[in-house]
Amino acid sequence: MQLPVLTLRSLLVLGLWNSGRRSLASAPELRHPPQKIAVIGAGIGGTAAAHYLRQEFGDGVKIDVFEPGAVGGRLATVKMAGHEYEMGGSVIHPLNLHMKHFVERLGLSPKQDIPSKMAIFDGNEIMFEESDWFIVNFFRLLWRYGFNFLRMQMWVEGILDKFMRIYQYQQYGYSFSSVDKLLHAMGGESFITLMNQTLEEAMMKEGFSQTFLNDIVAPITRVNYGQSVRIHGFVGAVSLAGAGSGLWSVDGGNNKVCAGLLYHSKSELISANVTSISFTLRPSKKGTTNSFYEVNYVDESGSAHSLYDIVVIATPLHEGKSDITFSGFSPPIPSHYPGRYQQTVATMVHGLLNMSYLGTTEPASDFTVTDILTTDSKGSFINSLSAVDPVHIPDGYKRPPASQPKVWKVFSPQPLTQQQLQNMFVSWDSTSEARWLAYPVYRLPYRKSPPFILHDRLYYLNAVEWAASAMEMSAISARNLALLAHHRWHQQAGKIDQEDLHTRLRGEL
Ligand SMILES: Cc1cc2nc3c(=O)[nH]c(=O)nc-3n(C[C@H](O)[C@H](O)[C@H](O)COP(=O)(O)OP(=O)(O)OC[C@H]3O[C@@H](n4cnc5c(N)ncnc54)[C@H](O)[C@@H]3O)c2cc1C
Ligand SMILES: *[C@@H]1O[C@H](CO)[C@@H](O)[C@H](O)[C@H]1NC(C)=O
Ligand SMILES: *[C@@H]1O[C@H](CO)[C@@H](O)[C@H](O)[C@H]1NC(C)=O
Ligand SMILES: *[C@@H]1O[C@H](CO)[C@@H](O)[C@H](O)[C@H]1NC(C)=O
Repeated sequence: MQLPVLTLRSLLVLGLWNSGRRSLASAPELRHPPQKIAVIGAGIGGTAAAHYLRQEFGDGVKIDVFEPGAVGGRLATVKMAGHEYEMGGSVIHPLNLHMKHFVERLGLSPKQDIPSKMAIFDGNEIMFEESDWFIVNFFRLLWRYGFNFLRMQMWVEGILDKFMRIYQYQQYGYSFSSVDKLLHAMGGESFITLMNQTLEEAMMKEGFSQTFLNDIVAPITRVNYGQSVRIHGFVGAVSLAGAGSGLWSVDGGNNKVCAGLLYHSKSELISANVTSISFTLRPSKKGTTNSFYEVNYVDESGSAHSLYDIVVIATPLHEGKSDITFSGFSPPIPSHYPGRYQQTVATMVHGLLNMSYLGTTEPASDFTVTDILTTDSKGSFINSLSAVDPVHIPDGYKRPPASQPKVWKVFSPQPLTQQQLQNMFVSWDSTSEARWLAYPVYRLPYRKSPPFILHDRLYYLNAVEWAASAMEMSAISARNLALLAHHRWHQQAGKIDQEDLHTRLRGEL
């Protein structure tokens, strides 16, 4: 979606990104390196973890990645009418530096950009439709919402500026032992406060109007997180940033990044479902005892187990997402943490749109809107309706107008009924549905994020999703945990939870 934006401030940080990664050789070897590391889950989080763990621990360690399903997890494509389309996580922000770096490192490229056009539907009619002319949009929005629009850009940019600090910290090898400490290091008390109030409260305090929240902000939180403006302020700001310009995706499909990271990290993919993890002591040859994590799993040929020095769990420990039991830990580790995941159903339809469903008299042959967002109105059973392009743009591709059959993606909280489909589409020749438990239900009062550290050398990557769920958030968490695991293994406390990094590193640019 393309909202009119002020140009994003200069990409100073990008220069820093290329200034070379922290030298491995400088790490003092206080202890023998770990021999085996397990990563549970091969989504973007798990595969990025494998990549960063290899970077931190070097070539000597064996890294096993467990995954019973397809590599990519919530990044998945589906084939329709001869082309593939993204069904899960689809767009990436231009300042998501880890994702950008992965794509460069792996020799992939961003998908060819085809301009998009946004509209807002209130359940009865289209109340706003973007024009092809920036200046027209600018004055229309100014007329309707005063300076709310410009102020929103500035508010989000202010938050993004602080968010970007994490890249510098990670570049210098700093890590954080909890989600709160990581957020605090980026944005100080202001980020913690954002987590503690709804987006609505936070924006009202900043002087945004209720009309603007209903007409513009709610449609954005609905398309990105399937929820209202009552989500917490931090994930709300991430959601608004995800409605800016310059959004991109990976040529050939976002899950290509996961496959690439897995391959380049020289990890072994084990196609198995991890059922339990226990903490065990084993006598060593030298007569001392060593402690290990025993990972029990089920694959095609039955149950098996292996011992590991370090384990990173890269799947949500939540109802419906995974069922791993933990034994031998004190205090005990639960299989499921509090809180739920939000269902978002993605329905792909190759067909002809019913223009009267949108309450418009515009001829379908002129209708070139790609992203139809929706307000939070009673009758609305969809969160969004988008015309989507294939994951790879074929030569000579032109996006057809609504008068021709094409692939539409509908997000809704419940599966669409036949009746609802018949209302939205005049006709169709194929459909495909994915019922995702997509991201956390970000309901207040602020629920404390689960821990990153479940036990001495047992880490939980998806704790970060309670701040915000996005590909880049999983990648940031992956790098943080690889650094944390490394520093804890080698007892380098000076690189963990340092205060005031922003001021201390200022001179280092
Ligand atoms: C519909 C939808 C739209 C989205 N849109 C965007 C977007 O536009 N931009 C964006 O940045 N993000 C988006 N997201 C969010 C983004 O997709 C996720 O935040 C991200 O993909 C999470 O990656 P992950 O690797 O942390 O988790 P997952 O991708 O969920 O990976 C976890 C993996 O662990 C595996 N697993 C589970 N249990 C076990 C077990 N017991 N043993 C072994 N393996 C196990 C699972 O099979 C899975 O493959 C969207 C998500 C959805 C669903
Ligand atoms: C969060 O809100 C609760 C209740 O409104 C309050 O008691 C707590 O101090 C707040 N915490 C932060 C960090 O602002
Ligand atoms: C993994 O195992 C759990 C039981 O521990 C089961 O409920 C789940 O369906 C299995 N998942 C897959 C993909 O095999
Ligand atoms: C198109 O939508 C209108 C309004 O919802 C509905 O009355 C009509 O039956 C639909 N037409 C078709 C062909 O499905």
